[in-house]
Amino acid sequence: MSEIRSEIRSEIPYIEMNDGHRIPQLGLGVWQDDDAQAAASVRCALQAGYRLIDTASAYGNEAGVGQGVRESGLTRADVFVTTKIWNDAQGYQEAQDALRASLERLGLDYVDLLLIHWPIPKLDKYVETWRALIHLREQGLARSIGVSNFRGDELQRLFAETHQLPAVNQIELHPWLQQGELRTANAALGVRTQAWSPLGQGKALLDPVIARLAEKYGREPAQIILRWHVQQGVLAIPKSSNPDRIRGNAQVFDFALDDDDMSALAQLDRGERVGPHPDTFGL
Ligand code: A2P
Repeated sequence: MSEIRSEIRSEIPYIEMNDGHRIPQLGLGVWQDDDAQAAASVRCALQAGYRLIDTASAYGNEAGVGQGVRESGLTRADVFVTTKIWNDAQGYQEAQDALRASLERLGLDYVDLLLIHWPIPKLDKYVETWRALIHLREQGLARSIGVSNFRGDELQRLFAETHQLPAVNQIELHPWLQQGELRTANAALGVRTQAWSPLGQGKALLDPVIARLAEKYGREPAQIILRWHVQQGVLAIPKSSNPDRIRGNAQVFDFALDDDDMSALAQLDRGERVGPHPDTFGL
């Protein structure tokens, strides 16, 4: 094991979070993978230099993720695993039970990052759920805690009521939905922005501006988009089940987009979601 481990190198930089822990800037998303596919993708990604795997109880593949981590040849400390509390497990006790069940499925003693998956404002349980995450962090079951799909006012409320800010806010973010206002709100609070569906579920790859830049830089369209994310300091978790695409998506730290091209990409923002809206999702 240790011989394999020493040969697996990573080019992916780590970024510091507001709790002092570090997070890899790029990771693998596994939404829509079943257990077997997740295990294969996770193994492939970790051997290709990824260090962050992003799953959720709602994905139904935590067992596969845990298997892939164990089979990768890396030590636990070298891998950063994120999971999330699903909407039906919001609440102080429910969220704690949900993480314990996730850890059981993952076969892990702790996760590196635990997120509240959606705020569900009409349920109005996200503050007590957040208190549960704070408690789980104190117990060492989650190293860092954060949220997903929260807006600025919801982050403010967490802070007002608990004096604790999330380390990360994971939001839908890609060239067609650039989330300028929310990224500014996250940054003002010292909360890291992490992009889910960073490729717009693959749809943004077909944009002609992306195609032009792919040609110019001699890169894949996905690499152009992922480079745009990392060059702005955004964290990203592209999903792929294809080994070549998994490997290619991590090769974005050896080139840079020039200022004109970053401006051209900024022009693609059109407020178009590929996923649900946080105001209405979950009820
Ligand atoms: P696949 O799993 O077959 O590679 P997002 O992360 O924005 O949700 O996008 C995920 C979608 O984009 C998946 O359908 C995935 O398909 C596809 N995808 C991921 N990486 C690439 C790539 N490098 N080139 C083309 N399609 C990609």
